[in-house]
Amino acid sequence: MKFEDPLELKSGMTLQNGFALAPLTNTQSNSDGTLHEGELKWLVRRAGSFGLISTCAAYVSPEGKAWVGQLGIAEDKHITGLKRLTRSVHQKGSKIIIQLYHGGSKAELVPQKISASSDANIKEATIEDIERITEDFVAAARRAEIAGFDGVEIHGANGYLFTQFLSPVLNKRKDRYGGGIQGRARFLREVTKRIHEAVHDDFAIFVRISPVDFFANLGLLLKDSMQVSQWVAQDGADVVHLSLRSAWGAAPHETDQTPVVSRIKKAVGESAMVAAAGGIWNLEDLIKYEQVGGDIAVIGKAAIVHPDWPKQALNGCFSPILPPWNPDYLKTVDVGKNFINYLKRFPGLVDGGAPPRTIEENLKS
Ligand SMILES: Cc1cc2nc3c(=O)[nH]c(=O)nc-3n(C[C@H](O)[C@H](O)[C@H](O)COP(=O)(O)O)c2cc1C
Repeated sequence: MKFEDPLELKSGMTLQNGFALAPLTNTQSNSDGTLHEGELKWLVRRAGSFGLISTCAAYVSPEGKAWVGQLGIAEDKHITGLKRLTRSVHQKGSKIIIQLYHGGSKAELVPQKISASSDANIKEATIEDIERITEDFVAAARRAEIAGFDGVEIHGANGYLFTQFLSPVLNKRKDRYGGGIQGRARFLREVTKRIHEAVHDDFAIFVRISPVDFFANLGLLLKDSMQVSQWVAQDGADVVHLSLRSAWGAAPHETDQTPVVSRIKKAVGESAMVAAAGGIWNLEDLIKYEQVGGDIAVIGKAAIVHPDWPKQALNGCFSPILPPWNPDYLKTVDVGKNFINYLKRFPGLVDGGAPPRTIEENLKS
């Protein structure tokens, strides 16, 4: 199994293995975005077994903050706590990146939300807004270097600001940031390039995208995502990280049923590595993912219940603890109270939380 081997990225960063903890929002930060003990414990507990630890989505500016308890990297005061985090993770032998985030129209906590195009209560981003936000991302990446991170991930997935620009449904702009995929990808590319220019060569850059629609009809086409992946790799990304429902699956509704990861991998060639998350629970899933060509295996939900998932899963007899999970058990694996409360919002994840979805509801989502 290749994920057991050390892996060197374009930047020169070497991971002790090809397993990564997915960025997982846990709503445990202090109200000013500084790191809370609970978040430190949650991440450090998973270091050592995962070669790469990723923080949750961290806001790069107050105007991009989307939820209470979100981690911040928007101000210098955030650096002290983050330094503790990187030091503790490094002591366990893993590398750590921070996910840089702006919610755009999903920044629910701010009085004036902005996005690619205007809508009820949402302002269309002006060129000045785009320039300011670009600076915010660059400043956040510099803070990440100071705080001792090994790299950053630009969050271009899951419906947030950059997805709003990439989506032909949400982006109706007539200027150079809209129109065809070249215009819609411009903002994400500029941020990638500017971060690449601003940081040291050995500082890794991951770019996360949603290569296909799976939870909303945003018009995200795989052929556009293949092009965007190629572009961001040219712009300085070491890794294109795909947010998928199935890490080894094909794009729904496309005639070509070649798995998404294989197609993106072919598009980027040697210029970047490909990471993907989506439904990897056990060794069988991991083998399916390895076969489609992924370089880094990203584990989300299974890592919540299994802090040592890579070691456990490689043992063929392992069967994961499937949801709904018992909150008392979650506490034993350093999933704190606020995180458990957050998980309760997801259908069927935690005992006493939102009920599971019916098959029909799943099909509709
Ligand atoms: C509780 C929870 C929080 C998440 N938070 C984030 C996040 O902060 N940033 C992000 O890019 N994706 C986030 N995701 C998506 C995961 O990174 C991952 O893509 C998804 O869970 C699919 O992988 P899995 O099937 O292994 O869980 C979150 C998912 C869950 C369940």
